[in-house]
Amino acid sequence: MNILVLGGAGYIGSHAVYQLIDKGENVVVIDNLETGHVEAIHPNASFYQGDIRDIKFLRDVFDKESIDGVMHFAANSLVGESMEKPLKYFDNNVYGTQVLLQAMTEHSVNRIVFSSTAATYGEPESIPLTEVMQTKPSNTYGETKLTMEKLMKWTEQAYGIKYVSLRYFNVAGARESGEIGEDHRPETHLVPIILQTALGQRSHISIFGDDYDTADGTCIRDYVHVEDLIQAHIQAMNHLKDGGQSNIFNLGSSQGFSVKEMIDAARNVTGKDIPAKIGKRRQGDPSTLIASSDKAKQVLGWRPSRTSITQIMEDAWSWHSARPNGYQEG
Ligand code: UFG
Repeated sequence: MNILVLGGAGYIGSHAVYQLIDKGENVVVIDNLETGHVEAIHPNASFYQGDIRDIKFLRDVFDKESIDGVMHFAANSLVGESMEKPLKYFDNNVYGTQVLLQAMTEHSVNRIVFSSTAATYGEPESIPLTEVMQTKPSNTYGETKLTMEKLMKWTEQAYGIKYVSLRYFNVAGARESGEIGEDHRPETHLVPIILQTALGQRSHISIFGDDYDTADGTCIRDYVHVEDLIQAHIQAMNHLKDGGQSNIFNLGSSQGFSVKEMIDAARNVTGKDIPAKIGKRRQGDPSTLIASSDKAKQVLGWRPSRTSITQIMEDAWSWHSARPNGYQEG
């Protein structure tokens, strides 16, 4: 298959490109390099630099390449920023997807696998979260992803574009070989911040609150290895290729770890102290988020194999310790 990966220079998109190429697929990458890194793009992928909101640019790529399916990772994804700049998020995430669907319709490309988020649910009704639970996002980021899902639903009804939306929980880890990994600027995610502290790049990690209703008082999250997550995308694309119906799936490891447990796991893996201080709660953080991924297992046959937190931390550490400053360019 010829797969178009939007956002293929970003953390999760680049892992998708590498795994698709491992599996012998032809990959075309689009990225505007606003947050992605040229160095993260697989050398065997065809790369087009440009923005998905630019219909002319998209039409050119679809004209040149004969695309069988799209994986869409091109979106802004910082919860805090989304509250300060909601219009930026609606523009890039929602309008960008609208333009993409327009171009797909014009070129009769009728399969898309799409990165969504647990933030579509908002404060959970109960744990673990299943796909039938209500979606009430508590931030703009989650609202834009939910709107993108709705765009796909109505577009399917009118034009027949089939979609699989994958709602990610907390993605972490890196490709085992250490060629690519997580490099956000600024970094806001827990695992890279812990490992930057292990490297001495930060004096300490600030734990955002220890007065939550959890065993040790710190927030519990469901961490899923990026390589397992991408495996689900490939299975989702195959599901659509084989005539499967559009659907929405949670992707998590179905186990929860507290912030303190994550720091302890990193201390064990790195052998470093990793100083931690208790800070204030971060606004909008639910105390516990754990996915039920049973549906992805049943329908897609997803079998995550890197579910131990030690392995996630080891793979993340391989990347961070080999590339303490991340990718070379800005
Ligand atoms: N945390 C700290 N200190 C830090 C950074 C994070 O204590 O310096 C805590 C947070 O409070 C949270 C946990 O570590 O309890 C994980 O925080 P992240 O920022 O790594 O991840 P989130 O759970 O906030 O968000 C992630 C994705 C979002 C997505 C969300 C969906 O980054 O894009 O999951 O659940 F929307």
